[in-house]
Amino acid sequence: GQILSVTSECVPLIKSGGLADVAGALPSALAPHGWRMRVLLPAYPGLAALLDDPTPVCDLPDLFGGTGQILAGTCGQTEVLLLEAPHLFTREGGPYLDPDGRDYPDNPERFAALCWAAMVICRDGLPDGWRPDLVHAHDWQGGLVPAYLQQAGLDIPSVLTIHNIAFQGLGPAERLQGLRLDPALFTPEGPAEFWGKIGALKAGLSLATQVTTVSPRYATELELPEFGMGLEGVIAALPRPIAGILNGIDTESWSPETDAALVANYTATRIEKRKLNRIALAERFGLDLGEGPLAAVVSRLTRQKGLDLLPPVIPDFLARGGRLAVLGSGDVDLEAEYAALAARYPAQVGLLRGFDEPLAHQIYAGADALLVPSRFEPCGLTQLYALRYGAVPVVAATGGLADTVIAANPASLSAKVATGIVLPRIDAGGLAIALTQLCDLYADPRGWRQIQKNGLKADFGWGRSGAAYAALYAQLVQERVA
Ligand code: ADP
Ligand code: GLC
Repeated sequence: GQILSVTSECVPLIKSGGLADVAGALPSALAPHGWRMRVLLPAYPGLAALLDDPTPVCDLPDLFGGTGQILAGTCGQTEVLLLEAPHLFTREGGPYLDPDGRDYPDNPERFAALCWAAMVICRDGLPDGWRPDLVHAHDWQGGLVPAYLQQAGLDIPSVLTIHNIAFQGLGPAERLQGLRLDPALFTPEGPAEFWGKIGALKAGLSLATQVTTVSPRYATELELPEFGMGLEGVIAALPRPIAGILNGIDTESWSPETDAALVANYTATRIEKRKLNRIALAERFGLDLGEGPLAAVVSRLTRQKGLDLLPPVIPDFLARGGRLAVLGSGDVDLEAEYAALAARYPAQVGLLRGFDEPLAHQIYAGADALLVPSRFEPCGLTQLYALRYGAVPVVAATGGLADTVIAANPASLSAKVATGIVLPRIDAGGLAIALTQLCDLYADPRGWRQIQKNGLKADFGWGRSGAAYAALYAQLVQERVA
């Protein structure tokens, strides 16, 4: 069968977070199951130049205030469809934010255009005869796909995956017509209406054939007010419950044995070679290594990630010999807090701002522990990379973190199955307890090595989850035929 994936980011073309990794990995995860997936995303500046054999395949003369066209090509193994629309996507800044970090005011229209293009591909097919049997849209940016399919009278099943419900793609009600949405969708309680605004994510949730999210635990959490961000009622009332399918990781591009970004490659049986990466990492962050663990953060610096909980507990951690390396950027006040810590403890805390893919790999390979104290975490990929590279994850017991890390405790340690450290509660006190446990476990080298090995041997490849998506697609396509 044929699947159109609709996403706002995709590795290796453009990445701001885990969605890009997942969108980039899905095509090869699905191929062994007989699904050919093509990935549609916006042609942000420079992307078209990264395609092999780019060919125009579709003209969109009237696309939300300008003209657009779709370019088909390949990038590595991935079959890509780029939506070129200079009036929407040729800008300085990132995929969502201008250079000053503000949302582009026309974000609703920019990603509505992406969804519209997806609908046109479903309606008209591509010149090579390719036509999707199903559309798989991601997050609010893909939220209007099911609405446009329905309005066009196209009976193609759709899957909408929630990667982050905190971003809902809200727009002012006045822009309904400009967004080409049927006013019937915008009645109070209607699928596209969210507290007086147009809600792209709500429309997607309400109208998709099947909603999924990226871990089983988060699928159950989403029905609760603490996690649903106002959409818990809609979610709880869905005719089909949300399917929680755990993200995998691409074990080829993320392999400590072959990763070219590392100072030293290693395997579970030669784990002592990590030491060279650890030394290089400390150097890069200007740290002098102590007796205690070198902990790291690779993250967007936001409250979702619980990174406001860490600075207050760092002085105690340093007093026990710990060190901290932080790679990331995000909320201005959090960046400032970490910068202040690094200035106060220059040899013990290091901060590098920005997005740096090779450095992220080096951190997973060199840090002793990776800290992920998230308040909510749909799946989380950094703890999976950490497990695969032998950095012990220290995580909050929420969402995908809870589903992927086996907490160290007397029972799991003696059974030799522990893979990480889990916060007893998600607050600064809980994080302090976890860091104390980290220092204690790290002080026992043999026990520590066992935890690292348990993680290195865990399987978080796409095998199982690829099969789960394939089975879901098959079921939905089958139902449509029946
Ligand atoms: P989220 O998508 O919520 O940001 P995930 O854990 O799912 O969280 O994915 C984050 C992805 O982004 C991982 O691939 C991680 O390695 C990467 N990443 C996050 N921050 C940075 C950074 N500053 N530099 C390089 N890679 C980063
Ligand atoms: C989102 C979530 C993260 C998840 C990623 C990929 O960005 O915050 O938990 O891993 O999407 O699904």
